[in-house]
Amino acid sequence: MTTGDTLDLSRLDPERIPRHVGLILDGNGRWARARGLPRTAGHMAGEKALFDTVEGALQIGIEWLTAFVFSTENWNRSPEEVEFLMWFNEDLLLRRRDDLHADGVRMRFAGDLDDPRIPDRNRRHMAEAEELTRNNDRLTLVFAFNYGSRRELTTAARRLAAEAARGALDPDTIDEETFSSRFYLPDMPDVDLVIRSSGEHRLSNFLLWQSAYAEFSFPGILWPDFDRHALLEAVVEYQSRERRFGRA
Ligand code: IPE
Ligand code: MG
Repeated sequence: MTTGDTLDLSRLDPERIPRHVGLILDGNGRWARARGLPRTAGHMAGEKALFDTVEGALQIGIEWLTAFVFSTENWNRSPEEVEFLMWFNEDLLLRRRDDLHADGVRMRFAGDLDDPRIPDRNRRHMAEAEELTRNNDRLTLVFAFNYGSRRELTTAARRLAAEAARGALDPDTIDEETFSSRFYLPDMPDVDLVIRSSGEHRLSNFLLWQSAYAEFSFPGILWPDFDRHALLEAVVEYQSRERRFGRA
């Protein structure tokens, strides 16, 4: 993969790099419409933006990057767009996994992967990508796929209730740590910075628990126009803010 397009890292305080950045990719459809193209062309253009951003995250030294690629609500789009997104997400894994692996990226998937509407091919290729890259440690790239925070939270509650019902867990011992250990990826750290492109100011059911103390960045550009430089700008802005975690 190209690393020619380097970032000016002297603008950053190396002591305050966000450990986990969440990306809400938004604006693909509007990007396409502005060009008289079908929405699917916007998603295809968004792929380049995502992987340029991954390159930027590697340069900056971000440890976890979570990209919201398909939400539990996205099934409500037209059948054609849903079918395209399933195919596209699978195809992208096959085309990108070797380069990501060579770059030391560990790929993980967070979401309701048991949903019968997800084609088996997708499930297989997600498992393969995870297996291929499991020992990489430069960056963990999470695809939030068929992800919805409310479903993650209710699934965790259901798991705990089942354990308690069969006597394997004392309800009085359930604390924040026990609860979050039943999430899709128990080792995922809290998110420090959430970036949503396209000028929308919403969380849309993304990492609700994990972003309890996150900073937010809302660049007004459409996702296909996002890149490593836009990521750097968001991190520079993040570093200019004071995080107090409820302290005075
Ligand atoms: C985000 O772009 C793509 C997905 C995560 C599926 P949109 O498809 O939401 O683009 P707009 O909001 O219609 O412009
Ligand atoms: Mg949108």
